[in-house]
Amino acid sequence: MHIDVNHLDIPGFQQNLIQWYNENKRDLPWRENQDPYRVWVSEVMLQQTKVETVIPYYKRFMELFPTLHALAAADEDKVLKAWEGLGYYSRARNLHTAVKEVAAGYGGKVPSSKKEFAALKGVGPYTAGAVLSIAFEKREPAVDGNVMRVFSRILLVTDDISKPKTRKSFEQTLTLFLEGVQPSEFNQAVMELGALICTPRSPGCLLCPVQMHCRAREEGVQENLPVKAKKKAPAVKKMAAVILKNNNGQTLFHQRGETGLLARLWEYPNLEVPAGQTSEEVLEAFLEHDYGLRASIIKPLQHVEHIFSHLVWNITVYEARLLEEEQLHSKGEWLYLHEAERHTFPVSHQKILHRQIQREG
Ligand code: ADE
Repeated sequence: MHIDVNHLDIPGFQQNLIQWYNENKRDLPWRENQDPYRVWVSEVMLQQTKVETVIPYYKRFMELFPTLHALAAADEDKVLKAWEGLGYYSRARNLHTAVKEVAAGYGGKVPSSKKEFAALKGVGPYTAGAVLSIAFEKREPAVDGNVMRVFSRILLVTDDISKPKTRKSFEQTLTLFLEGVQPSEFNQAVMELGALICTPRSPGCLLCPVQMHCRAREEGVQENLPVKAKKKAPAVKKMAAVILKNNNGQTLFHQRGETGLLARLWEYPNLEVPAGQTSEEVLEAFLEHDYGLRASIIKPLQHVEHIFSHLVWNITVYEARLLEEEQLHSKGEWLYLHEAERHTFPVSHQKILHRQIQREG
């Protein structure tokens, strides 16, 4: 695939865009300076997450871990707790690992070479481009879905932006736009245009500083771009979770395994309910088999839904009663609720915990 830029006045485009950016940019906490650690954290948080959601998390994270060394020295539990609710927890674990690599291998100085920075854990082409350009003024494009939307329109690109090949073409093309500008300013100006004007639906073309350069607008097709293959509908899983207490008033919890979805986060014991079986029988067998506990299910208490990008958990929460005090298998842990609150839970299980605290408060 080839993206055609011949018709575009690149210097004129750069000038119109950057002037608009300087007059309209938002005052965001990660724009206070070009500290590479701060920029890096912001770019990791901003992946798959909206600016308004990120702001309070970012501020809290910077108070807890103001420097790269502070983050490198922190316990993973504390890092995950600071991320609780942002989702995609592997971002936090990878960032923590990468920051430890920088502390150990580079004396705590974020490497400014693409080869070294891009080799760190969890650093993909977008993060590398964003951090190297914003913090170090390197001529690197930072191409995410928002940037591809903007340039699909400007350049009338009709290729499917969910294909890796299309992203690579954009990366090559955008390198041309980084001549003669400050990369930090240009890349952030494109992000800002995507956030404020060139939005997914109803783009604000009348206010757009580069409308005269936009081929989609010329053709009246801005609302049809970018072209993006539809994702499969997420699979819906029927799940059952259980609240079970012992005679000391402690509740049974489980810490998820080292790998996979929501790795190492805490939760109430839960499982998928196979078609044709009842949640009650499945939960009772599960408690006995996995936890060594004989219990009976009393009643449903709550429904919660957890939406992942590819999956929906439809969870019914049941109250159970322990039939006899037995030795718990190592899979589970009895915790008082104030102890549980110190751990990191996925939002769905946080809702269950908060409701239990309210009920028993
Ligand atoms: N989205 C991704 N990176 C961003 C940034 N630095 N500023 C605003 N929005 C962004």
